[in-house]
Amino acid sequence: MSAPPAIAVTRLNHAFGVGEAERQVLFDVALEIPRGALVVLMGASGSGKTTLLTLLGCLREVQQGSVRVLGTELNDASEQVMVALRRRFGFIFQAHNLHESLTALQNVRMGLDVHGPAPGADDAAAHVLRLLGLGERLDYKPRRLSGGQKQRVAVARALVGNPEVVFADEPTAALDKESGFEVVALLRRLAKQRGTTTLMVTHDTRILDLADRIIVMEDGRVKEGG
Ligand SMILES: Nc1ncnc2c1ncn2[C@@H]1O[C@H](COP(=O)(O)OP(=O)(O)O)[C@@H](O)[C@H]1O
Ligand SMILES: [Mg+2]
Repeated sequence: MSAPPAIAVTRLNHAFGVGEAERQVLFDVALEIPRGALVVLMGASGSGKTTLLTLLGCLREVQQGSVRVLGTELNDASEQVMVALRRRFGFIFQAHNLHESLTALQNVRMGLDVHGPAPGADDAAAHVLRLLGLGERLDYKPRRLSGGQKQRVAVARALVGNPEVVFADEPTAALDKESGFEVVALLRRLAKQRGTTTLMVTHDTRILDLADRIIVMEDGRVKEGG
């Protein structure tokens, strides 16, 4: 029997608000993403990309439909199951969300500390930072790093725990084209080396060349590529 896909979604609906204010934002979404794939999610602002990503990432409760991630059904999953799954994920957001008071190394270590105290955490954090070309910046705090360097620290933090799935929401939005491409090329290389499944929202068309597949959303529906 082959392994289940990393992500399998069927008949997913989602709404915000209650009563008269209720507004549906995802409609009958279906998609399947194999393990190890780098998939780009595109679509106009407001089309539901972030909502979908947060549902898949166990950051929001599934209301209706089926979402299976790494073989586990999220609809009606307990908080305990959601927390355990989140530990197998890495997250990268548009804003890098680094702690200003911590060095690059300490920020990346935080990606491991969610698993409890880990021996060798400093070495692991330094290793990923070196892979991302930041070996000379381990002791720098964010204010002394450029935008591209900060975002690479955020990428390192997401990857240091060897996540099985990486969710990235416009990770290059704050970067110039050059460093944006660089960051995603690195993500791709690490994904292929480690077999990590990566789902990334982006508007950056240059990045499309790096994707194994492109999913396009329109008005809360999967238009192409699901
Ligand atoms: N927390 C929320 N409460 C109410 N409406 C929301 C919330 N988050 C998103 N929405 C609405 O859901 C729709 C989809 O938003 P979103 O998933 O953020 O789209 P995208 O990431 O593609 O720009 C938008 O109309 C947005 O205004
Ligand atoms: Mg969004």
